[in-house]
Amino acid sequence: MGEKRHFQVWRGDESGGQLEDFQVEVNEGEVVLDIIHRLQATQAPDLAVRWNCKAGKCGSCSMEINGKPRLGCMTRMSTFGETETVTVTPVRTFPVIRDLVTDVSFNYQKARELPAFAPPPGLALGEYRMQQVDVERSQEFRKCIECFLCQNVCHVIRDHEENKTNFAGPRFFIRAAELDMHPLDARGDRQDMAIEEQGIGYCNITKCCTEVCPEHIKITDNAIASSSVVGLSSADPPVSAGSPAASTDGSPASPATTPAERAAATDAQGEISTNWHRETPGYAPAVGPDGKLPVTEATAEFAGASSPFGDDVDFPMPIEDISYQHPSKPDEH
Ligand code: SF4
Ligand code: SF4
Ligand code: FES
Repeated sequence: MGEKRHFQVWRGDESGGQLEDFQVEVNEGEVVLDIIHRLQATQAPDLAVRWNCKAGKCGSCSMEINGKPRLGCMTRMSTFGETETVTVTPVRTFPVIRDLVTDVSFNYQKARELPAFAPPPGLALGEYRMQQVDVERSQEFRKCIECFLCQNVCHVIRDHEENKTNFAGPRFFIRAAELDMHPLDARGDRQDMAIEEQGIGYCNITKCCTEVCPEHIKITDNAIASSSVVGLSSADPPVSAGSPAASTDGSPASPATTPAERAAATDAQGEISTNWHRETPGYAPAVGPDGKLPVTEATAEFAGASSPFGDDVDFPMPIEDISYQHPSKPDEH
């Protein structure tokens, strides 16, 4: 039997609400979402909360705990003092539906506006090949669980509802960067779109988004600042993390207007003008003399866990039993 602790939980809907006080049992090792569930089970069965995985992977349980945007399922009760009141409120940037559940459809709309991954025309399935360096480049951004805590904390939309039309937010800047870094994406540069349609210039690299990201993605440094366009929609000179906002002779840099001018202005400051769409080393697909890809992986001998094919199947499998990408017999060419 644990101890009773004091909680304040916001109850209400779009028409208004208030914090309500509860005394709820807390046991060793529990997280805030456990307490919310116990509250539902014992005192407030109609309390609305969104959650799914309880493992920090689905991004559903975003909430504000003692005023800080957090995942309920990853916030241990041991984070707080034994006599501290724990206040749980819905994320503030999105409209409340009920209690702790908000309408995050703003984010889905912004996701739809971003051009999707587009492989070059004519590239067939099975011809996608990436080098490890290419995988690593965008791996950080792929960790995003779409909890939207970064969106919630970004003051550009948190404090200015009117900016929501013109600002996509940090989650979608990393998505754009990730797609531009993909070596097979043929859509073209998304940086112009980030400037002209997604409002990346509103960002003043406060790094609040980076601070709250539960996946520790360096949103500001590795996606936004590296885009070389931050702050350019305002009268501010271009800046990047850790660099002074002035030209090399000490005078303030002038706002640039075109992508080329922006890049040149950034270079003139001696800053790293990293581009999302970086050059990657050229390489040829590892095809055999018949123009087909080898079956190295399927035929390699390596130790593994229990086979999903059943324990009566021996590996390497006979080549005739493999139904994809195996070399044709000479008379089938
Ligand atoms: S760094 Fe930019 S995107 Fe991130 S919270 Fe600050 S203003 Fe928003
Ligand atoms: S970037 Fe981080 S904070 Fe933003 S949605 Fe993804 S996981 Fe959440
Ligand atoms: S319940 Fe899935 S991240 Fe918290």
